[in-house]
Formats: sequence, structure tokens, C-alpha cells
Amino acid sequence: MPKTPRGTTSRAKDSAGGAAPGTPWGGRFREAVDPTVARFTASIDFDRALARYDLTLSRAHTAMLHRTGLISSEDERALTEGLDAIAEEIEAGDFPFDAALEDIHMNVEARLGEKVGRVAGKLHTGRSRNDQVATDLLLYLRDASTAAERGLHELRGVLLERAVEHLDTVLPGYTHLQRAQPVRLAHHWLAFVEMFGRDAERFADQRTRMRNSPLGSGALAGSTLPLDREDTARALGFEAPSNNSMDAVASRDAALEFLSAAAIAMVHLSRLAEELVLWSSAEFGFVELADAYSTGSSLMPQKKNPDVPELVRGKSARAIGNLVSLLTLVKGLPLTYNRDLQEDKEPVFDSAATLRDSLTVMAGALATVEVRPERMREAANDPMLLATDFAEVLVAQGVPFREAHEAVGKMVRHCIEEDLDLRSLERAKLQEFHSDFPDDASQLASLERALEQRSLVGGTARDTVTRALERAHEHVRSRLESLDEENSRAPGAP
Ligand code: ARG
Repeated sequence: MPKTPRGTTSRAKDSAGGAAPGTPWGGRFREAVDPTVARFTASIDFDRALARYDLTLSRAHTAMLHRTGLISSEDERALTEGLDAIAEEIEAGDFPFDAALEDIHMNVEARLGEKVGRVAGKLHTGRSRNDQVATDLLLYLRDASTAAERGLHELRGVLLERAVEHLDTVLPGYTHLQRAQPVRLAHHWLAFVEMFGRDAERFADQRTRMRNSPLGSGALAGSTLPLDREDTARALGFEAPSNNSMDAVASRDAALEFLSAAAIAMVHLSRLAEELVLWSSAEFGFVELADAYSTGSSLMPQKKNPDVPELVRGKSARAIGNLVSLLTLVKGLPLTYNRDLQEDKEPVFDSAATLRDSLTVMAGALATVEVRPERMREAANDPMLLATDFAEVLVAQGVPFREAHEAVGKMVRHCIEEDLDLRSLERAKLQEFHSDFPDDASQLASLERALEQRSLVGGTARDTVTRALERAHEHVRSRLESLDEENSRAPGAP
């Protein structure tokens, strides 16, 4: 392969003979760009994350250029070999990234020039960085979205395992952070399994709207060349080319949907994290985080801090911020591409990494957290948690609910004033509060019955929760299987 010598500041030669060396637009310019401007406009420090997608795209584009007769077989071979060699360099971590070459697209093209010489100039035939970057981003998002969906199902798997273990662990369910009614820990964690299930579905759904390839839209108005847009779309795993060239280069709603799904998932993780923080406090004492998922204090020797869930909670702020950033970035832009759009990438990369890492550490923290069933049971034994059940005993006797609520409210006040257990009231006493209380009212309102009586779909009864666990388990299994299958169909899959 012919090689051209490396320059000192920038490697690309200004073949057009203009005065902006190292830029593909040198012909039009009399002066080189100011170094501060070069630094200000460069994106290579972050968009190098797109390298493998950019190369996949360039390979597909090259094959299409040949198939349509726009380049010869020799040209195709040279370009493909050059691109493969660059892919290896990037994989091995010795690609010479050059900030003077602005972004990943120009870095790759300049390097290709060094590897294959003049023919490298044919790679950009019928292509603009505008349709190129829009397509790269969709390819990146497709992988990030699949990974997020997988991570969510894996976390659900961990929650389900722990839930099965704690089918008979009872704790108070809370509203307003006040003890409300008893629930099984399995039921409590199944709530998060549901949330993460919807989060996973949001990512799957979001991918269905990334089915059109922007490639071939050019800078904004398409191309005069006989490109085959169907061909590149298919090769890159899209269903079809995009319908409108201006939309294709201007829109970032796929990224917005991804960021929105990531923000929602992070908010759910944050709520779960918050509970681990609360529950591991001395005040609750419901759980103890494993040493591997806690840190100590540099000052106070007795401390064991829940930094992992705290940081998950903290990092959810970034995910929310990233969504807001991109919404704000896009909102005032006239069609079509504007350089502002270069700022779309960091929020996307950051949310993808934040969600991925948060899912990993939360799965680890939950798999290893030690549960204190006795502490939970103690809290759940608070007889006041049965007040609703006493009211429902009356309802079963035909008493209007409002009237039952009022009667039990008075009972509760009486018990608080006299420091009594709701369950210890004698039959006669109960009937003072409402004459329709049956003789066995106190047996009817018990912790076990409170759980078991709630056997409607979505409730706390043992069988109901067991069925919910089985259903969720089956769902996780089948979704992970489809993701494996989707993965094996992806372009470039082994
Ligand atoms: N680095 C640019 C971006 O990420 C690539 C597109 C540049 N296009 C242009 N017309 N300057 O948006």
C-alpha cells in the first residue's frame, strides 16, 4: 500500500493548493484557521467513540460505490483494505488521532490517504459529513439501546432471584414514607421489576423508529450521483433509506428518545437506590450492603457508607440533564444541519455510559445485599397496619366504607391515647365502636390475613406473588433470548 509522509501539525495535504492546510475545504480559504478556533471546533476527543460505526459505514458506502459503477474494483479493494487496516489500528489503540483534523470522519479519511494515497479521495463520493454523522449516531444508538435493554433485563433477573428468596419476608409498605400496609419483600421488589420492564420496552420501542438510513442524503438535498441508498441501508441493518434528505440530516429525535428512556430508567434506579440508602440506615436496619458495595469514612472509623446507591441516585441527575441539554440544543435550529448538532454526542455517550455502569453496580449491590427479615417483620408487626383491614371487616358486613373508616379511625385514636394494640380490643369494646363488628373481628384482621386476603391480580397473597414472579421470570428469559437473536443478525456479527 502506498504511504504518504506524516506532517507535523496536520497530516492531510491541501491538495487544492489553498491556504488552509489540513482541511478538505482548503481550496476556498486564503488563511489557515486560528489555533483556538481549531481547538474550539474539534470534536475528536469525544466522537472517536463513533470510530467503529464510521468504519462500518465507510465499508458499506465503498461497496455500494463499486456496485453502482462509481468506483473501479481496484479502487474498492484499495479503500476496503485501507479501512480494514484503520479498524485494526483503532482496535489496537494505536490510531494516531489528530485534533487538527477536527472529527472522527476527517481523521479516518486523512489516515486512509496515508495508507492508500490519492484513491482515498474517492471515499467521500456522494457523501457529506452531515448524512455520515447522522447515520453513525443511529448505529451507535442501536447498540447502546440494545445494551441498555439487556442490562435492564439482567437487573430484573437479579431482583427476581432475591425476590424468590424473600417471598415470605414481610415488611411495611409505605405511603408518604409512613407505614401503611404489610407487603412481602418479593412484592416490593417486583414493583421495580415492573418499572425496569417498561424501561426495557421503551428502548426496544425506540429502536423501531431508527429503521431508516440517512446515508445518501448528502449535505441536505441528496446527490446527483446514482447512489444505491437501498443497498447501504440494508448493509447497515436498516429497513430502508430515509424518506426526506432534509429531515435525515437535521433530526435528532432518535437521540432524544434514547436520552428520555435513559433518564426514566435512571430515575427508577435512583428510587431503588434511595431505598437501599434508607434501609441500610440504623433507623431502618432493613438491609446491610456487602462490604464490596460500600465504602468507609476517612474520619469516622465506625462508618459504612452506601456510596454505590448514593452515586446511582446522584448520577440520575446527569441523565436528566443530558435529555434537557439535547432538547434545548435542537429546539431553535432552522433546517437542516447546523454545527450546534455536534453537541449532540456527549450527552448521548454520557447517558449510555452512566446507565450501563449504574445497571451493573446496582445488580451487584442487590445480588449481595444482606436482608434483615426480622427487622422488617418487627416493623410490619405494627398493629396500626391492620386498620384498613378492620374497616374492610365491617364492609364485609354491609357497612358503608365511609362509616367503617370513621369507626376504625376512632378505634385507632383510642388505642393511641390508651397505648393499646388494635388487635387486643375485646369484642365488647370493638362493638362499642361499631355494632356490626363480628365476634371474630380480631382474628379476621391479622398480618397473615392482610397479605393473603389481597389475592386480586397485582396483590400480596402468596400465590398471587408466586405467579407474578413466574411471569416476570419468563418475560426476562424470553427478552434476553430475543436480544441474543437480534445481536446475531446485526451487521458485522460473528
Ligand atoms: N463533527 C461534525 C458533527 O459531529 C460532523 C459534521 C460536520 N458537518 C459540517 N458541515 N461541518 O456534527
